[in-house]
Amino acid sequence: AAMAAERALAVATCTAPVNIAVIKYWGKRDTDLILPINSSLSVTLHQDQLKTTTTAAASRDFTEDRLWLNGKEADVGHPRVQACLREVRRLARKRRGGSEDTAALSLSYKVHIASENNFPTAAGLASSAAGYACLVSALARLYGVQEELSEVARRGSGSACRSMFGGFVQWQRGERPDGTDSLALQVAPETHWPELRVLILVVSGEKKPVGSTAGMQTSVDTSPLLKHRAEVVVPERLAQMMQHIRERDFEAFGQLAMRDSNQFHATCLDTFPPIFYLTDLSRHIIALAHRYNAHHGHTKVAYTFDAGPNAVIFALADTVAEFVEVLRRSFPPTTNGDGFVRGLPVGSAALSPELVAAVVTEPLPGAVQYILHTQPGPGPQLVDDPSQHLLGEDGLPRSRA
Ligand code: DP6
Repeated sequence: AAMAAERALAVATCTAPVNIAVIKYWGKRDTDLILPINSSLSVTLHQDQLKTTTTAAASRDFTEDRLWLNGKEADVGHPRVQACLREVRRLARKRRGGSEDTAALSLSYKVHIASENNFPTAAGLASSAAGYACLVSALARLYGVQEELSEVARRGSGSACRSMFGGFVQWQRGERPDGTDSLALQVAPETHWPELRVLILVVSGEKKPVGSTAGMQTSVDTSPLLKHRAEVVVPERLAQMMQHIRERDFEAFGQLAMRDSNQFHATCLDTFPPIFYLTDLSRHIIALAHRYNAHHGHTKVAYTFDAGPNAVIFALADTVAEFVEVLRRSFPPTTNGDGFVRGLPVGSAALSPELVAAVVTEPLPGAVQYILHTQPGPGPQLVDDPSQHLLGEDGLPRSRA
């Protein structure tokens, strides 16, 4: 048997989660280093429902760096991919302190990287956050880097730095021009709030809106509301949100999450020319959530929307069955209804006539494609089982059966 140090191929596989912000990141002060104009806070979602898996391999036999996304070869020269590669290699070099460690993987070997999602890319759930968090985790593992890596993931996509931790995560904006203090920090682990649930409403047939990278830059350049938000509103809200999470105060958490989503979309309208991410359907879902809460006399569900048409709803576990039934009545599935609710199991609930009359006002058949039921989850994970590697012994993507 060959000795480990002489192995032709070194391989590492990791998985990483999606996150959803409750205090939104929107706007950069440095577009190259990806430094934000305000801090943000998110909930990491469970990888049982949504995750990216990435395998990184290095070999003296590889002649060039290569990248495959969901089985298709992609541009490894993308500046953000290159920034992540460069930064992980820099940390590896630093770690070895310049001394030639012969057992360590050579930094001059080319790498092959394969990445895929366990969710349909077309659904608009494809998350650059999970993708870059996973890329950085797999590369770090490959090179034996153990440093704090949110700073590196940030170079891939701002929101990716928050996917480097599980549970409730803050990305602190930092002050330094070099970005060394613009990091993610865990506010609380995923076990902190066991009753918290998340429903992702995947909406049907929407075309791709303006990307966040371009959109937020136009907002920074033109929106006075965004400036006020970053300087005055977010600092106050961030402190409040951390306290609501610490106290597991769903009402306060939910109200602030809705307000912050609404303000983010207000800054989009204040951008010139304006950007519209909310659709008629988004506004319909917003109104529905408010009617539902009003009927119960308190905040039982909270919505949040990012730079796309899908809605994310927070609720406590004991609300899910009833609210999902409200959604089923409000957006009756046009096919047989199988697979309308996916992810964690949802119990059945009977709705009172009063609830139906007050909340289910004008049903929109087929408007919601399906609902994904999930919960907060852990950060990136190492995949030990070699059969799970996305690259085979030849360093090429395994054919996916
Ligand atoms: C609306 O992290 O995708 O989802 O840093 O340019 O890659 P880049 O942008 P990205 O922006 C996310 C914006 C958001 C809010 C959030 O996740 O905080």
